[in-house]
Amino acid sequence: MSSYSIESLEQYFKVYRRSVQKPKKFWGKIADENFTWYQKWDKVLEFDMQKAEFTWFKNAKLNITKNCIDRHLANKGDKNALIFEPNDPNEPARTYTYNQLYTEVCKLANVLKEQGVKKGDRVCIYLPMIPELAFSILACARIGAIHSVVFGGFSANALSTRINDSTSKVLITSDGGYRGAKTIDLKKIADEALKNSPSVEKVLVVNRTNQEINMQEGRDLWLQPLIDQAESTNVAEIMDAEDPLFILYTSGSTGKPKGMLHTTAGYMVFTAYTFKNIFNYNNDDIYWCTADIGWITGHSYIVYGPLLNGATTVIFEGIPSYPTYSRFWEVIEKHQVTQFYTAPTAIRSLAKEKVEYVQKFKMKSLKVIGSVGEPINEEAWHWYNDHVGGKVCPLVDTWWQTETGGILISAIPFVTPTKPTYASLPLPGIKPVIMDDLRNEIEVNQKSGSLCFDFPWPGIARSIWGDHQRYIDTYFTKFPGKYFSGDGALRDEVGYYRITGRVDDVVIVSGHNLGTAPIEDSINQHQAVAESAIVAFPHEIKGNALYGFVVIKEAGLWRDQNNLRKEINQLISDQIGAIAKLDKIQFVTGLPKTRSGKIMRRILRAIAEGGDYDFGDTTTLLNPEIVEEIKTGRIAP
Ligand code: WT7
Repeated sequence: MSSYSIESLEQYFKVYRRSVQKPKKFWGKIADENFTWYQKWDKVLEFDMQKAEFTWFKNAKLNITKNCIDRHLANKGDKNALIFEPNDPNEPARTYTYNQLYTEVCKLANVLKEQGVKKGDRVCIYLPMIPELAFSILACARIGAIHSVVFGGFSANALSTRINDSTSKVLITSDGGYRGAKTIDLKKIADEALKNSPSVEKVLVVNRTNQEINMQEGRDLWLQPLIDQAESTNVAEIMDAEDPLFILYTSGSTGKPKGMLHTTAGYMVFTAYTFKNIFNYNNDDIYWCTADIGWITGHSYIVYGPLLNGATTVIFEGIPSYPTYSRFWEVIEKHQVTQFYTAPTAIRSLAKEKVEYVQKFKMKSLKVIGSVGEPINEEAWHWYNDHVGGKVCPLVDTWWQTETGGILISAIPFVTPTKPTYASLPLPGIKPVIMDDLRNEIEVNQKSGSLCFDFPWPGIARSIWGDHQRYIDTYFTKFPGKYFSGDGALRDEVGYYRITGRVDDVVIVSGHNLGTAPIEDSINQHQAVAESAIVAFPHEIKGNALYGFVVIKEAGLWRDQNNLRKEINQLISDQIGAIAKLDKIQFVTGLPKTRSGKIMRRILRAIAEGGDYDFGDTTTLLNPEIVEEIKTGRIAP
């Protein structure tokens, strides 16, 4: 077990050195000693970076749910696997032991089989943060079906696009969901989506809100009666190491979302190992990650990583501000949470409220606090460290992506000294490199460039569903022989990494990864709009917010500008989801373009950000006069 758990800085450096010198030996040993396999591998790794082909644990056979559940039953059957904390604090929390989790997952697995789901079929899951979301994921993995979870905040159109891209056969949803004081009509949204998604044969509906919904005869079935009749044991499907485990969509620089494909064994080994070390999980700990399971954070660090380690993981249905700004802190005290993992945007929004909200609660149980999703600014870091961590809990700033499957750069608590705004050091087996635009490695300290990785790790995505060429083009082409993350980063004198933000057309708003292209596509569908360009500008709470420059058609319907703004945001809401709405919309008569017709986004970015407008080289600009107009019409904060 020695290489599985890192206990000192000296050990970290030793393990790290060994891991990058002999990565196959390193990962082979971890895989060998810490998991249950039907059959072990012939080779730890075969890969080709140019072709983006990775085979980890070749020909090994396993089922990830045997590792998440079955193997814990002998010693931890009565230990809580899940604690469900509902949106409404007056609704009692629910717990599920590993024994109960086993039964729930087996029953649902049997239901899926009865409904005709077979190994390799795609099952789309569109649920609120309720235990059934975790059961659904695990039930799919149990029978070898590929789960595709769509975040419950996405619109009908976004859901439909994802169902169609993955040609999902079954949809698991609920009547509705609670979110603060609101109810979300999930089934109604799903019905709308299914008008354009013919691949779905069956819809299984969880009863959460008891609200009135439409059930389509022959297609829609309430889940509970099926569960009640199902057998409570299930023989897990034997999966190959490289059989697909799930698809999870992330934004790209074109309108079409990318279905990142993760496979079984590598993802298992990587999420388990990173969870254990980054959260310093010990047997009686209560771990809580506030993300939604609809994002990769929830997949890897609410469901798989914790359960693989036999942990107790909290599933929280609510939001940080309901019924009061104390909700997070109250839940930490209530369940005696030991590890707390959240996003900078949540921290910033809570730090803005009276400090009494957090001071009222004793959070003595906490040992480690974590941050994920975007760079955490210095102020937020200190507030989190002082008021939540009480200056005694290590704060781990964890850097990773949907594509990486698990955390690549982070401090290890009680091992790595932390430094505000630095994600710090790479995990064992991870080889970051910073590249300049001429594709040379930047060796000097404090100079930023593109963050790339020199060598694959077990959790790396294997492809984009249905489009391997796009996978190669997006991540493996700009810097040949390397994985390109799309982020900028720099390294300090001690080798700590600091993430400086995206260097591509992706914007992180409130920790949500949004492509500017799909938002522009939505806006351009408005009949009055000729074209548009979206850029990000810094926002106190959201990290980044969106500023839209919108060109109205000449014969355009120049109605009330505020109405037009509302309509544009409504369109974005319908097409993508409310998370992608614009904070500012400026109507312009044209956009700054190069002679080749490319929008000069850095000019728009500079205007949106304000300040003293350093536009850099504008000699290739086709229409310099437009810049004056846009500057004059700028919407101030
Ligand atoms: C992008 C990935 C990783 C799970 C949640 C988001 C940004 C993520 C950090 C961090 C600075 C971060 C990056 C990355 N990001 N963590 N600790 N510091 N930036 O997953 O939606 O795939 O987004 O989030 O820009 O590329 P995702």
